[in-house]
Amino acid sequence: MNLGDLERRFGRRLARVTTNAVVARPGLWRFFRWSTRAQFDRLAPSWDALRRPEAFAALEAALDALPDAPRRVLDLGTGTGLAAFIAARRFPEAEVVGVDLAEAMVAQARQNTPPELAERVRFLQADAAQLPFGPGSFDLVQLANMIPFFDELARVTAPDGHLVLSFSAGPETPIWVPSERLRRELGEHGFTDFADFEAEGGTALLARRRDRV
Ligand SMILES: C[S@@+](CC[C@H](N)C(=O)[O-])C[C@H]1O[C@@H](n2cnc3c(N)ncnc32)[C@H](O)[C@@H]1O
Repeated sequence: MNLGDLERRFGRRLARVTTNAVVARPGLWRFFRWSTRAQFDRLAPSWDALRRPEAFAALEAALDALPDAPRRVLDLGTGTGLAAFIAARRFPEAEVVGVDLAEAMVAQARQNTPPELAERVRFLQADAAQLPFGPGSFDLVQLANMIPFFDELARVTAPDGHLVLSFSAGPETPIWVPSERLRRELGEHGFTDFADFEAEGGTALLARRRDRV
């Protein structure tokens, strides 16, 4: 095993430890923010090469099940923007915002933006634990391989809006939370109508924000 393999293995382990810790106790995020950001800043230039073409199959399966096309979409932990572009292509009327903690990921996402999507897709650097959006700003919030911050997910998803949490390699994904755990937390945060999806080794959970909480 060479140094690159070792670093990748350590990075995957760190991502899982961070996810477990923060889902159990969101207040611990402040101790992990710096290392998470540094890790993904370093990965940004090579991120697209690491992605399998079918990495978002489960996310897409969940998006297929949405009852209506959303007009305001948030892709949290957008990385290089791949899932944001999927949403923008699928929902041609939608404005899509991709948010990432790592500045280098945001820069890469902006660089990757196809000209035909540039008017409707924008990227900004922000922390999903403290988002710069008002309550109920989005009809669809989607996460691909990203740590869920439940308070903020509940705050920025519009009443009756939808949330999709997807994991490209199911339980093998470094950032992964079991569906039962997600359902429990989301249920306590005003989400309902859960549905699970599996495709190409990935998993996704779709949920609807109650119109009254
Ligand atoms: C595993 S990558 C997934 C990237 C992309 N969604 C994909 O599947 O290709 C996780 C991304 O979430 C970002 N991230 C982690 N914690 C975050 C936070 N609190 N706020 C915003 N982005 C975060 C990381 O910088 C990284 O780009």
